[in-house]
Amino acid sequence: MDHFHERFGELHAEDVPLTAIAEAVGTPVYVYAEATIVRHFRVFRQALEAAGIDRPLVAYAVKANPNLSVLAALAREGAGADVVSEGELHRALAAGVPPGRILFSGVGKTQAEMAAALQAGILQINVESEEELAELSQVATALGRRAPVALRVNPDVDARTNPKIATGRGEAKFGIPRDRILAAWAQAEALPSLAPTGLAVHVGSQLTDLAPFAAAIRVMGELLAALRSAGHAVRRVDLGGGLGIPYDPSLPAPPTPADYARLVAQATAGWGVELAFEPGRLVVGNAGVLLSRVVRVKRGATRTFVVLDAAMNDLIRPTLYGVFHHIRAVRPRPGVVNATFVGPVCETGDTFAEDRATTPLEPGDLVALMTAGAYGATMASTYNSRPLVPEVLVRGDRWALVRPRLTPAELAAHERLAPWLAEAP
Ligand code: LLP
Repeated sequence: MDHFHERFGELHAEDVPLTAIAEAVGTPVYVYAEATIVRHFRVFRQALEAAGIDRPLVAYAVKANPNLSVLAALAREGAGADVVSEGELHRALAAGVPPGRILFSGVGKTQAEMAAALQAGILQINVESEEELAELSQVATALGRRAPVALRVNPDVDARTNPKIATGRGEAKFGIPRDRILAAWAQAEALPSLAPTGLAVHVGSQLTDLAPFAAAIRVMGELLAALRSAGHAVRRVDLGGGLGIPYDPSLPAPPTPADYARLVAQATAGWGVELAFEPGRLVVGNAGVLLSRVVRVKRGATRTFVVLDAAMNDLIRPTLYGVFHHIRAVRPRPGVVNATFVGPVCETGDTFAEDRATTPLEPGDLVALMTAGAYGATMASTYNSRPLVPEVLVRGDRWALVRPRLTPAELAAHERLAPWLAEAP
C-alpha cells in the first residue's frame, strides 16, 4: 500500500504531480510520501498490539532511510530508533527521538561510539561479542556510567533471502554464537559498569517467509529459559527487523505485518519481557520513488535501451543485489514495448531492468523507480562525479526539498589540493 497513484493520466505522490517536482528540482530525485511512512509505522505497531503484544518498542532501523525529515516524521509517531553508528545516533537525536527509545546495534562499534551512546543515555547497546563486552565495560567505567546491554545472539538460522543481506547463519559475522550466550551473560554480570538486560536477534532483511523468524524466536525462547533457570533476569528481547515488502507486482505478496505479529505473539506467549522490533524497509520502502528522466532511447545491436538520468550511484540495489524495482512511466502512453533500462555510468552493471515490458517511452519522459524509499538515497554515492541525489518529502499537496542536490562544484570544493600540487610545477 502506498500513496503513489495515477490521477488524470499522471503519477502523483499524494496530491502532488511528480512532473511538478521534476520541473522545480530537476532529476534524478527521490520523492517520499509522508502519509505512507506514517501509515506503515502505524500498521506495524497496531498489528503487534492487536495480536496482544503489550507496549512493543518499535525502533525504526535508521539505516534504511536516515533523512532527517523522515526521522522527524517517525519521531512524532513515537518511534524509537535502531542506530549503527555515531552518525545515525546523532541524526536520531537531532530528529527528536528520545534517547530512551534508541538501541545501538553493530559488530564494529568503536570506543568513541560506545562513549557517545553512553553519554546520550540510550536505552540499550546490542553487544555482538565477548570482546566488545570487555571494551564497553572499560569505556563505561571511565565515564562513570552503567551500560545497559543486550546480547545479540547468532541463532544459526538461514533467513532464505539474498545471501548479501542474510545475517543469521552461524558463519556470519553477527552476534554471539548461541552456545556461548550463557557464559557471555555471566561475563557481563561480572564485569564492572555493565547491566545486562536483554537479548537481541536479527536474521536478515527482505524475508518473504515467516519460517526463519519462527526459528529465530524458538532459539531466543530456549536461551531465555536457560538464562532464567541460571538465575539471570532478562527484561527485554529485541527481535530485529527484516520483514519483506512487495517489489514486483507480478509476484505473490510477502506475509503482512498482521501475519508476522500473530506469529510473534504466539511464539513469545508467556515470556514476560518487553519486546522490541527494528523494522526499516517495511516502514519506508514503499514510501519512496526515484524519479528520473529519459535522456535517450537507444537502439542497440540486439535490444532497445532506455537511458535514464539516474544511475547505479543513485540506486545501487539492482547492481549490487540483482534485485527488481518496478518502473512506471509518470505519464504512460498506450501500448507495451520491451526495453532495457540503464543509467549513464560507464559500467555494464549500471542496469536497472533487463528486457522489461513497459509503456512506450521517449526522450524527456519521466519514470519512477518504485519502492526506492529504503536503502536508496542512503546508499547513493557520487561515482562518476555525479551530483549527490536530492530528496523531497511530500505531505498532502505540499512538498519540500529536504536534501538539496550537491553539485559537482560543491563536492570538489570540499576537497583540498595537496600543497605541493597547488604550486606551479
Ligand atoms: N536491525 C539490524 C540489526 C539490521 O542489520 C537491519 C538491516 C535491520 C534491523 C533492518 O532490516 P529491515 O527491516 O530493513 O529489513 N542494503 C540492503 C539491506 C541491508 C539490511 C541491513 N540490515 C538492501 O538494499 O536490500
